[in-house]
Amino acid sequence: MKTSNFPIFTVKSDPSDAEVVSHKLMIKSGMIRKLSSGQYTWLPLGLRVIDKIQDIVRNELNRIDCREILMPLIQPNELWKESGRWSEYGPELLRFKDRHEREFCFGPTFEEVITDLLRQDLSSYKQLPINLFQISTKFRDEIRPRFGVMRSREFIMKDAYSFHASASCLDISYSKYMKAYKNIFNSLMLDFTMVDADSGNIGGSESHEFHVIANTGEDDLLLDDSNNGMNIEIAKEKYQEENLEKIVGKSGMTLKKGIEVGHIFKLGTKYSKPMNLRFTDENSKINDVFMGCYGIGISRVVAAAIEQNYDDKGIIWPKTMSPFQVALIELDSKKNTGIREYTENIYKALKNNGVDVIHDNRDLKLGNKLADWELIGIPNILIIGQKETENKNITLKRRDEEEKREVASEFINDSSLTV
Ligand SMILES: Nc1ncnc2c1ncn2[C@@H]1O[C@H](COP(=O)(O)OP(=O)(O)O)[C@@H](O)[C@H]1O
Ligand SMILES: [Mg+2]
Repeated sequence: MKTSNFPIFTVKSDPSDAEVVSHKLMIKSGMIRKLSSGQYTWLPLGLRVIDKIQDIVRNELNRIDCREILMPLIQPNELWKESGRWSEYGPELLRFKDRHEREFCFGPTFEEVITDLLRQDLSSYKQLPINLFQISTKFRDEIRPRFGVMRSREFIMKDAYSFHASASCLDISYSKYMKAYKNIFNSLMLDFTMVDADSGNIGGSESHEFHVIANTGEDDLLLDDSNNGMNIEIAKEKYQEENLEKIVGKSGMTLKKGIEVGHIFKLGTKYSKPMNLRFTDENSKINDVFMGCYGIGISRVVAAAIEQNYDDKGIIWPKTMSPFQVALIELDSKKNTGIREYTENIYKALKNNGVDVIHDNRDLKLGNKLADWELIGIPNILIIGQKETENKNITLKRRDEEEKREVASEFINDSSLTV
């Protein structure tokens, strides 16, 4: 990829409405742009980060035999009436009518739609278990959208659903998802914790949340020294106490802030019973299906990762979600065609090695180019100008190191340049 055909939209000034560092840096580095309250366009650079996260998520879910589908964004109200949530779910559910006066909503979550899907095809225990997921845009009319894509109205979520013949099968599957989630957040190189949670709007018997630990998090977590614990709603129930200081006193644990990036639920028969999702068991008896559901806020993960990884120059991407592994800066090539030729050779060799590289061939000064790639947060910046072309070497500036250094041109084979 070259900047001549990959637009870079960095900006110098701070956005006026950004309260947290991730929002500020996502605008400045040209990852996102605002359309209206809680709605953002993902620019090419930001979308590459989304793609990296999605690849990791897809890979782990495929490993537990969860298969991808894609459901419609708009849902008919009949299904929500069947589950009882048309009246239960508050104003976050954006409702509207079509030209035939039929009522619909924008999907905030998909339990009703997937339950309806399964009841059309499921009849026998022989078909179970079934595990399905989608990655798609969700809409929730949040009362207070804020922090950019962290709490937006339109956002990208991965939602998975599992279907089982018994509660014990659900338990087994639930642990598999738990393990897959830990693998996902480890692969994303995030400092995270899993806590006991309550089930909120989704419902069911047991649930766990995955939080990225960050001071700007909106959720209070009660954690022990190894960061195990519970969210604050559960803590209040457990210690029969509303006051946070008193909860800390009673529990001997610490309060920390978290950003909820994932949430898993044992739904049991909460949706299958009212919506008649049933199957025939080995003894020809008809039973309700047991269900689980499992969400990850893909777009929120991007913001959460930045909250944990930045400095005064900009973002410092964990390498597994960085939009590129290498930014190759070409300098002064107008003055000297040898520079262009040498850089082009290095670029081709990097590409041949499978390195995810962007070649910055813009006609700008080193200071401006370096500032852009440090703001964008690329782990390795390689610089080639007059001096490097003469010496047949490269100047390396790692994002997490202070000083530049010279390396031999063979450095392009270094394993640190690939994920
Ligand atoms: N308004 C939002 N903006 C961005 N991501 C969201 C938003 N709401 C939920 N998510 C993400 O989707 C995941 C699953 O949602 P869910 O647990 O149903 O939401 P909530 O905890 O807000 O009720 C959350 O863990 C979070 O990462
Ligand atoms: Mg949740």
